Amino acid sequence: MASSIPPLEPSPVQPTGKPRIYLDHAATSWPKPPGVLEACVGYQANVGVAAGRSVYRNSQVADGIVSDLRSLIAQLIGTPHCDSIALTSNGTMALNAAILGLLHESILETVHVVTTSIEHNSVLRPLTQLRKTRGLNVTIVPCDREGFVNMHRLQLAMRPNTRLVVLNHASNVTGSIMDLTHAVSMAKSHGAMVLVDAAQTLGFVPIDVTALGVDMLAAPLHKGACGMLGTGFLYAHPLVGEKLRIPWIGGTGRSSDSLDDDFPWRDAVESGNMNVPALASVAAGIRWLQSHPHVPAWEKWTASILDAFRHCSRIRLIGPKQLGNRLPVFSLVSESMDCHELAMLMDSARGWETRSGFHCAAAIHEGIDTKRYSGTLRISLGHTSTDSDASEVCEGLRWLDSL
Ligand SMILES: Cc1ncc(COP(=O)(O)O)c(C=O)c1O
Repeated sequence: MASSIPPLEPSPVQPTGKPRIYLDHAATSWPKPPGVLEACVGYQANVGVAAGRSVYRNSQVADGIVSDLRSLIAQLIGTPHCDSIALTSNGTMALNAAILGLLHESILETVHVVTTSIEHNSVLRPLTQLRKTRGLNVTIVPCDREGFVNMHRLQLAMRPNTRLVVLNHASNVTGSIMDLTHAVSMAKSHGAMVLVDAAQTLGFVPIDVTALGVDMLAAPLHKGACGMLGTGFLYAHPLVGEKLRIPWIGGTGRSSDSLDDDFPWRDAVESGNMNVPALASVAAGIRWLQSHPHVPAWEKWTASILDAFRHCSRIRLIGPKQLGNRLPVFSLVSESMDCHELAMLMDSARGWETRSGFHCAAAIHEGIDTKRYSGTLRISLGHTSTDSDASEVCEGLRWLDSL
């Protein structure tokens, strides 16, 4: 069946004619801030050429967009090393590049990795695969009922042969923010390298990899950084980057007459043509964030949504109950319906676009005790949510609780 191409103008209503309440910013941000879509379409309409491959004027425009974006990302995460930012097609590819690149030996029986149960499957699955196929030792530190990882338990997991600690800055299920300062300094004091997954926090919570001493940081650029889908990056400190052996390679636009296998890590990660129109949109998204440094409206919305939950008796918030150490990501369960039924009901009754299930995070549900509900219903707000979205969430929660 041929699908129809949606119009360029974002529509405030669903195809059914109902108002659209987009509450899935933790998956990807929508709508994008002003200028983002225009940067993508403008690039494709007026430039449209590949980056890193040629010398003609428009190809230099493409190269300029890519290097400008590296500088913007470097500023956002607090590193002077713009050349240590590799652009990827999403957060998953960046995390895989870091994990598989650092743990590249064919036998890993003497190597230990520590991670946590709040990680996304883009961390847990590659680590599990390395455990099964190459003997990697992996310790997954559990979280508490709100999705927080206890720092003492993290410390107890460290061993003399711990090479890497992988930390999710904030859970995409509960919104709980990890105490990175504490976790990173503890890992470093044991001589381990640290990879941070900033998928949910980039653009929401300031992060400074240099001050923290983070070795690698991976994140999508289509969530809090406000760019188009199909974008992400990996930062690796130059001394760590040179240790990475990326398990894929192809055309790099450089040394094209050579088949050697000692390519710089960033070239290997970025093998093949890049999605330059989408990267142009990311630059516009980050610039928008820079020009709106005081947009923590989501803190105000979070306060009112937490308050609405406090008055509910049939539905229950899973995750932090207080402001301060959480994102505007709210998971809930109900004793009378499973989470998929809840999501369908809220869509058909109120136009809510939410997400239900385990949220690609296999290990957290034990700790937050949500397996028996088939996961949770997740509501998430972002930079382009509105006061009226937040009021609708509060009203919708009251309505759901009254059923
Ligand atoms: C915590 C976390 N890590 C990694 C990812 C993977 O990002 P992407 O979907 O861009 O591959 C996500 C996406 O939801 C996430 O929430």
